[in-house]
Amino acid sequence: MPDKNPYEVLKADVLDVIEESPTIKSFYLKPERPFEFATGQFIELSLPGIGEAPFTPSSSHYEKEKIWVTIMNAGFVTNQIHKVQKGDVMGIRGPYGKGYPLDIFKGKDVLLLGGGVGLAPLRCLLQTMIHDINDYKSITVCFGARTPDDMIYKDQIKDWKGHEKIHHLCTVDKCSESDIWKGKTGVVTILLDDIKVDPKEAIAVVCGPPIMMKFGTFSLLDKGFKQGNIYLSMEKKMYCGFGQCRHCVMGKYYACKDGPVFTYEQIKDEEKIWD
Ligand SMILES: Cc1cc2nc3c(=O)[nH]c(=O)nc-3n(C[C@H](O)[C@H](O)[C@H](O)COP(=O)(O)OP(=O)(O)OC[C@H]3O[C@@H](n4cnc5c(N)ncnc54)[C@H](O)[C@@H]3O)c2cc1C
Ligand code: FES
Repeated sequence: MPDKNPYEVLKADVLDVIEESPTIKSFYLKPERPFEFATGQFIELSLPGIGEAPFTPSSSHYEKEKIWVTIMNAGFVTNQIHKVQKGDVMGIRGPYGKGYPLDIFKGKDVLLLGGGVGLAPLRCLLQTMIHDINDYKSITVCFGARTPDDMIYKDQIKDWKGHEKIHHLCTVDKCSESDIWKGKTGVVTILLDDIKVDPKEAIAVVCGPPIMMKFGTFSLLDKGFKQGNIYLSMEKKMYCGFGQCRHCVMGKYYACKDGPVFTYEQIKDEEKIWD
């Protein structure tokens, strides 16, 4: 971004707020001018007088006029963001970082492994791939939530399943007897037993809480996925977003400007990647 002020904040009108689960909401935003980003890049979303936090848009990069961001209430800033209503105004700066190398994914089976709100950044990738569905051999979405109530994008699953090239698998860690749940029960990695792709050639993209990323990656390696074909979206603590503050340092990498998307092969020898 040589000719652009990297701190510039655009105003964004909140067009709608959707309650996805008890702790997760989606915000449908209209920036004051079209917002260009690449799938997998992130933004800093701010509330005046409160603060800002990094998020990956959940909408396709083809949608430039309006973007979706799906946010879990995790702490101070996100708690305030959850109080935002339709008609309010937020701030967006970015985009930052490097996204997914879609040219490498083309012609291949692509598996998305998401846990909890980790499906939000993966939705951006999924929507982008759906736009160009003929460029991909197949797309498999494996998603795990804690309980049926914690499942996000429930109303979109049937659209995804409607695509001949998309296989959608989901599981919950636990469900009570009163839950109406017909899917699998168990951690998200159990879904890998049901996938129908050749692990030696397929691409896997993992996003979720650190523990899920760790065991998800190890399960993919056990299944035969190559280290260089496993892409991880590293959600490290970030402030500036573009290599100035060093808050996101991971060994020799800055998660913000060298990532947030890395292959496992790139970062496997760096310290504390799963923290
Ligand atoms: C590139 C990137 C993309 C992200 N995309 C999304 C997204 O699409 N949706 C979403 O809900 N969240 C996303 N996150 C995580 C989100 O940024 C954090 O949840 C948020 O910064 C927490 O801010 P807070 O002030 O509410 O929490 P705090 O009060 O600062 O902290 C509350 C808890 O959240 C943890 N936390 C703080 N910052 C982060 C962080 N960056 N990553 C993970 N945990 C953190 C803290 O360790 C603490 O345990 C993303 C993070 C990064 C770096
Ligand atoms: S967030 Fe500031 S250097 Fe990465």
